[in-house]
Amino acid sequence: MPGLASFLIENDGSYSEKTIEHYRLRAAGGPAMIIMEAHGVAPEGIGSNHQARIYDDRFIKDLSKVAAVIKREGSVPAIQIHHAGRQVPFRVINRKPFAPSILPCPAIKGDVDPLDIKGIKKIIKQFGDAAERAVKAGFELIEVHGAHGYLINQFLSGFSNIRGDEYGRNTAGRTRFAREIIGEVRNRIGPDFPLSFKISAQEFVPNGLTTEESIEILKLLVKEGIDVVQVSAGNDATPEWICQPMFMKQACLVDSAAKIKAAIDIPIMVVGRINDPFIADDIINEGKADLVCMGRGLLADPELPKKAQSGRFEDIRICIACNTCMQSIFRKGRIECLVNPSLGREKEMEILPSDHPRKIMVIGGGPGGLNVARVAAMRGHHVSLFEKHSTLGGQLLIASVSSHKKEMQSLINFLISQINKYNVDCHINVNVTIETIKDNNPDVVVIATGSTPSIPEVTGAEMPIVCTALEIFNGKKWDIKTAVIIGGGATGCEVALDLSEKGCNVTIVEQLSKVGIQMEAITRKMIKKLLTKNNVRILTECRLSKISEDGAFIEHKDGKELFIKGDKIVITVGNRPVNDLYDQVKKLGIEAYQIGDCVEARSAKDAIYEGAMIGKSI
Ligand SMILES: Cc1cc2nc3c(=O)[nH]c(=O)nc-3n(C[C@H](O)[C@H](O)[C@H](O)COP(=O)(O)OP(=O)(O)OC[C@H]3O[C@@H](n4cnc5c(N)ncnc54)[C@H](O)[C@@H]3O)c2cc1C
Ligand SMILES: Cc1cc2nc3c(=O)[nH]c(=O)nc-3n(C[C@H](O)[C@H](O)[C@H](O)COP(=O)(O)O)c2cc1C
Repeated sequence: MPGLASFLIENDGSYSEKTIEHYRLRAAGGPAMIIMEAHGVAPEGIGSNHQARIYDDRFIKDLSKVAAVIKREGSVPAIQIHHAGRQVPFRVINRKPFAPSILPCPAIKGDVDPLDIKGIKKIIKQFGDAAERAVKAGFELIEVHGAHGYLINQFLSGFSNIRGDEYGRNTAGRTRFAREIIGEVRNRIGPDFPLSFKISAQEFVPNGLTTEESIEILKLLVKEGIDVVQVSAGNDATPEWICQPMFMKQACLVDSAAKIKAAIDIPIMVVGRINDPFIADDIINEGKADLVCMGRGLLADPELPKKAQSGRFEDIRICIACNTCMQSIFRKGRIECLVNPSLGREKEMEILPSDHPRKIMVIGGGPGGLNVARVAAMRGHHVSLFEKHSTLGGQLLIASVSSHKKEMQSLINFLISQINKYNVDCHINVNVTIETIKDNNPDVVVIATGSTPSIPEVTGAEMPIVCTALEIFNGKKWDIKTAVIIGGGATGCEVALDLSEKGCNVTIVEQLSKVGIQMEAITRKMIKKLLTKNNVRILTECRLSKISEDGAFIEHKDGKELFIKGDKIVITVGNRPVNDLYDQVKKLGIEAYQIGDCVEARSAKDAIYEGAMIGKSI
């Protein structure tokens, strides 16, 4: 398990019970080694208020606790030491962040404080002090974070380091800071203590690192005493290469790692979208890397290694790279996972057997219904699930149709395999009415009937030219040459991308000033890039005013009208709940709950979470 900021660290840097349980669970899941998240070596080196810290002896107590817990569960406890450099807002550290040069972080912006030689030497010593503390705390490997656009990476890269002194100028000069850190750490931990270096071997920016230059850098660092390299990618301008979204290929950094492995004589670890044990196995068998790191894969399912080891592949809850984890960190200051509602609240979400098994009827076979059925059945309840269509998955099935989101299917497969495993009595092609519920005589009813696309009340909305995302993705073979998408949210952008990739000429009409506002930032960046590549026209601050039989009339906020011709007008302006059963069931006096989109149309993440909450409390 590579470094993964848990966002379970208190503001003063201490670990809570949640932090320890988070790591205990992951260690118990069977990975060979857990590299704990980035720990700041200096107060000015933290990247956020929730960052883990190792810049003072007072942190050793908590560090020792978690190292011991990881070891007790059978995994090697390792720790990453880190300095954020310019990649931290002023407000977090109350001063201008340090950087190699005057160049600010492209994401955070704001002035930086270029380091002088005295400042450089101080940070080198801070890395040494941190390493000594890590050894004292019982860790068995230390990783120096040289990747992801943080301070060491900033020095290594011509993108961020334009110094004219001995810490800049060329590859050797830019590597000097990292070399001196490794030298200092090595001196402090002794010759035999395992030392790793994480590198963004490719940055995908002008003057940035390439695999070839990274090989030169690593050769210098091997001489200073690193024992193993973790190959990653991306920096503060290219976060899509740090946490690759589902729009990128699985195992997309393996070629870079294989080149490094061929050039360097120490073991190589590789990270990046390795979410499937079979892919991991192939990487090792083909000799492309010596160790495989699974990050988000272990957030999604901490037990992945053990399940793979024992051949229980259908029980693995695969990470779909939706980056909900990143989005929740940045927008909410806590970590969440779409597929694993327990992430970050493992104790409170524990699934315990029920004392009173009851007869539970779940209505709707979307992600919400499937998950409530799974959790309730795991607890020993007698669960039957009813779905009006012939397939399970609800809207998620539609979501997984477009070429970039096929992996969402793995979530549906997981949920279906689990309801089968726990003997949920599944009825498809049954449109449940209040009569069906009376006939079944359940103790508890859970309504998970989802939502349906909203259609705006404009002239022409009922014409055959109008359709929804469901019809675009439901497998019908449309012959659409031009399409107008009304609504530039996530669904509108995905429909636009799908159609444009099939050669359709697409215009998105959005009433806000930007498209994809609610989307996770990295995914939005990727999708916007792809829309531009496919020449999708984006009209913002425009509203649909009328539909005719060959196009849509649009009104710009300044009052200008325009007509856009299209074979199809695809309406993606949101959904409205489908829920006419809840009140009727309540009137019968039966215990009833409603979850997911049928309460308010939102996301699969909400539906799955609410399913877990109700499933564990009934
Ligand atoms: C194209 C597209 C892309 C999306 N992408 C994402 C994404 O990337 N991330 C994300 O989090 N969310 C995404 N969503 C939204 C997500 O799919 C929904 O929020 C989620 O599926 C809601 O789950 P649910 O179980 O509440 O309802 P639904 O998925 O709507 O399932 C409800 C089910 O109940 C059944 N049903 C309804 N009435 C009855 C009845 N009377 N009897 C029996 N069965 C009944 C329906 O047939 C349906 O199968 C996407 C949606 C679409 C359309
Ligand atoms: C929530 C989150 C926190 C992360 N924190 C760290 C970190 O502390 N140190 C680090 O080196 N990488 C961090 N990363 C990057 C991961 O270690 C890994 O390189 C990346 O997620 C790609 O691998 P994966 O596809 O297996 O998740 C983080 C990623 C995520 C999603």
